[in-house]
Amino acid sequence: MISEDKIAEIRDRAPIADVIGNYVTLKKSGNSLKGLCPFHNEKTPSFYVHPNRGFYHCFGCKVSGDVFAFLMHVEGKTFPEVARDLAEQTGVQLPVYDPQREAEHQRHKKESERLASLMEASTEFYCAQLREHPDASIARAELAKRGISDESIRKFRLGYAPHGWDSLVRFLERTGSSPADAEAVGLIVSRRSGRGHYDRFRHRLMFPIADVHGKIVAFSGRALEPAPSMEAQKEPPAKYLNSPENPLYHKGEVLYGLHEGRVEIRREESTILCEGNFDLVALHQAGFANAVAPMGTAFTEAHAKLIKRFAPKVFLLFDGDQAGRKAVREAYGTSNKAALSVHVVTLPQGADPDSFLREQGVDALRARVTNAPTIIEYLIDDALARAEPNPHAKAEAIAKLGPILASVESPIERGLYVERVARKFGITDLALVRRELRRGLGRGNEPRPKPRDAVRQDIALVVSELQSRLISLLIDQPTLIQNEEAQKLSRLLTNKDLRAIFDSIFRMVDRQGSLEVMALLEELEDNQLRPWLEEQLAVQRHSLEEARQIFCDGLPILEQQNIERELPGLQQRIVEARRVGDDALAAGLTQEFVELSRSAHKLKQANAKQR
Ligand code: UTP
Ligand code: MN
Repeated sequence: MISEDKIAEIRDRAPIADVIGNYVTLKKSGNSLKGLCPFHNEKTPSFYVHPNRGFYHCFGCKVSGDVFAFLMHVEGKTFPEVARDLAEQTGVQLPVYDPQREAEHQRHKKESERLASLMEASTEFYCAQLREHPDASIARAELAKRGISDESIRKFRLGYAPHGWDSLVRFLERTGSSPADAEAVGLIVSRRSGRGHYDRFRHRLMFPIADVHGKIVAFSGRALEPAPSMEAQKEPPAKYLNSPENPLYHKGEVLYGLHEGRVEIRREESTILCEGNFDLVALHQAGFANAVAPMGTAFTEAHAKLIKRFAPKVFLLFDGDQAGRKAVREAYGTSNKAALSVHVVTLPQGADPDSFLREQGVDALRARVTNAPTIIEYLIDDALARAEPNPHAKAEAIAKLGPILASVESPIERGLYVERVARKFGITDLALVRRELRRGLGRGNEPRPKPRDAVRQDIALVVSELQSRLISLLIDQPTLIQNEEAQKLSRLLTNKDLRAIFDSIFRMVDRQGSLEVMALLEELEDNQLRPWLEEQLAVQRHSLEEARQIFCDGLPILEQQNIERELPGLQQRIVEARRVGDDALAAGLTQEFVELSRSAHKLKQANAKQR
């Protein structure tokens, strides 16, 4: 246990605004600071930090707490872990409380430190080789050809890995480093004979890759023209050779340039995502110091989250070729899930950011960034450009845009995009465009865009399978809804779109005794399930008697499912009540739990008999 005194001491020495400021861009707002909540996706800030009270609260997702709670939440750590980290950072001495865990932690920490210092020493080694090694002139010539300045070489600590097979091996021997460590981080490779090691990176221009804290965790080595002193190669080497994943480095989570660019990213409130090492260095050098690049992988969700911690907006700046256009399409889903606001900067065919900067200059690129369309505008234009110039292909292209436009939250924005589709595709009738977009939505084969809270929505989809089946029976035979049993369903619906459908049907049948399809669809214009509803309305499958039978069988199963879903949460609350010593609450909840379990059990037996 850590004493209250120690906790208070840590809290004093670790101001909450500084700690949270490492994760979220905070702006002054009265007595508080506010920013984008790191715990849910949002585009306008509702996350407040009150420095004097040492407290944060999000008005959107309702999380709150102190500096410890914040770190536990954001880093997924336990209280003792967070306390220990903070104590270490602020120089507060803690008594050792769990010798075994402490030993494990120390061992892990020592290992990381050893590996990191090995990477650091190797970075220095490669830097020195770039200055001194005779064959490094080839690397320096490449850098000069690309117009990379000495300042950039220093800033990014670019280096040269000599050819021969053991330059680094010998350097590491001289410095007394452990070959096992060097092998673990992929700097050297064990010989097949089992005796000794050789260098992984040979005759390459070396880009050291830092994690967000500035620690070198990997290298990316660019192939160079062969040096005269080298023996002829059988095959040309791969253009880039990257460090393998290692205890310090997980490639899907690292962005090259993020450490160097993090301050500028906050200042600009945006990130530029490019794809090449040279592009990254060239962009920083040209004043776009908010550029980052993934390490030879696609843009992952981990990357999106990482960026989102620093800025809500990202410019995709990929090569001006087929691969670049494809990369944009693929980045759409990833960035949408993270609720990043995305713009796309296009380059002429065949150009990459590095060559574009050299050929057309900084101002030309600046103009393209300033005028970059949103990713949805871009995807609309891209769909038109890729469609064959015949009516059928164009209709298909519009249908495929359906899911993308449906993911736009604001109805006004969505309307403007619909107009853009109409304008670009040369269709004057907006209703026609809307119908085509909806057609694309109804098809199951297009991956639906994940709405904001992807996880919650997934659960809803699973749960609503039976719910939607029951509603479909009501659509089939609307008068069923006047049945008493059907009224029960209204309480059991957990999906709000299904509930809206239920309510509309109920009102309509109540008022006029039947369903009026067009009026119903009109009423449910913005309902997410409208394409599904349209399908249901298109056919009638059952007689009234049949529908009633299926409905009455299904309803108790839904009841049972709903109860079973509630039980674990209830159990959790009982445990929690016991933990805090609230026996009265625990007893009450237990009573509730027993009753619910009992009715679930009864329903289960009845339902089993039915089948
Ligand atoms: P590019 O081929 O566009 O590289 O690959 P580049 O950096 O622009 O190099 P130049 O300008 O052609 O000389 C983009 C990125 O993809 C990864 C690297 O991270 C590279 O920077 N890549 C590429 C690899 O990991 N391996 C490869 O063989 C090629
Ligand atoms: Mn390039």
